[in-house]
Amino acid sequence: FSDFLTDTYHRQHDYLRISVTERCNLRCLYCMPEEGVPLSPPAHLLTSPEIFYLSSLFVSEGVTKIRLTGGEPTVRRDIVPLMQSIGSLRSKGLKELALTTNGISLHRKLDSMVEAGLTGVNLSLDTLDPFQFQIMTRRKGFDAVMRSVDRVLEMNRLGANVKLKINCVVMRGLNEREIIPFVEMGREKDIEVRFIEYMPFGGNKWSQGKMLSYSEMLDMIRVKYPSIQRLQGHKNDTSKTYQIPGFVGKVGFITSMTHNFCGTCNRLRITSDGNLKVCLHGDAEVSLRDVLRRGNDGQPIDEQAFEALKQVEMDRQQGLLAAGSPLGWGERERELLSVIG
Ligand code: GTP
Ligand code: 5AD
Ligand code: SF4
Repeated sequence: FSDFLTDTYHRQHDYLRISVTERCNLRCLYCMPEEGVPLSPPAHLLTSPEIFYLSSLFVSEGVTKIRLTGGEPTVRRDIVPLMQSIGSLRSKGLKELALTTNGISLHRKLDSMVEAGLTGVNLSLDTLDPFQFQIMTRRKGFDAVMRSVDRVLEMNRLGANVKLKINCVVMRGLNEREIIPFVEMGREKDIEVRFIEYMPFGGNKWSQGKMLSYSEMLDMIRVKYPSIQRLQGHKNDTSKTYQIPGFVGKVGFITSMTHNFCGTCNRLRITSDGNLKVCLHGDAEVSLRDVLRRGNDGQPIDEQAFEALKQVEMDRQQGLLAAGSPLGWGERERELLSVIG
């Protein structure tokens, strides 16, 4: 494993999340306003060759897992060819290629994605009720999402091996009554349903009262399933995992608000406009796109890119990069910024 991705705390940042678009075909209440998010000019977005180039660079330095995210990654028109190219990095050490998606159009693209090497799908779904779906996402599409869930399970029955997780953001007064039905999906289906604590994000109207904490959600499940037990986690999990004896699936909790899991976070992030971010909550970013295009009329230049990336770390050490975040995660971020070196 290269020093390039090992930080001063000996964490190996071998997991890269790449946002491939800012756009989304849903408008989840907790994520986006009705009018959507302001979009970057197209020329600022990474091209597929640039995404592939950065992916191969990071894989050659020891990244073993890449997750494509958004916005909604499947709205990128060339998402399948992009996955095919990234999938080819399996021969260079890439072990996992995962997707975080809302599932609206996944069912149409899943087969070719699996062929390209897809190993995991984290699917966002907050309700099992089509009407509630329309309230929480401000769009129609529940049936399409369920078709995607079914297709992943069916492909696994046919021999694929795609790890399926459902991400369910729980909001008081909207979907907390659905916690038990979601848990019960795991009785016969090999799905990990992860309940996510509602976070302030993108100007949403977050309030403490609308958030259900991990312990409150777990207590609700324990009333019906007192035998639920905690499973041993993996080293870099951001979720706490449980299982009910006799159930095939699992239950997880992403406790962003009540239990800080920064200490085990090994994720690096690249935004759709090509900035490297080390923490979801921080605003410190460095532009890999500028490095890639520098001095070459905006075209990527392979040879210089890697050295220039290292310059980023030198700039950081000289205090040229700002660190710190409005959410008070600054210290963690400063520490994480040392990964690039
Ligand atoms: P896997 O562990 O690979 O399954 O993925 P993941 O859970 O990291 O990714 P996913 O895209 O499914 O994100 C699920 C939730 O985790 C989202 O609500 C994210 O906001 C949250 N999340 C992911 N990484 C971090 C992190 O580093 N810090 C915090 N606070 N939240 C994170
Ligand atoms: N609070 C908690 N989770 C959120 N997500 C998006 N916005 C929020 C928020 N404000 C979740 C989505 C998706 C994952 C990547 O992040 O549901 O599953
Ligand atoms: Fe789109 Fe995901 Fe945000 Fe919902 S949470 S609006 S599906 S990006």
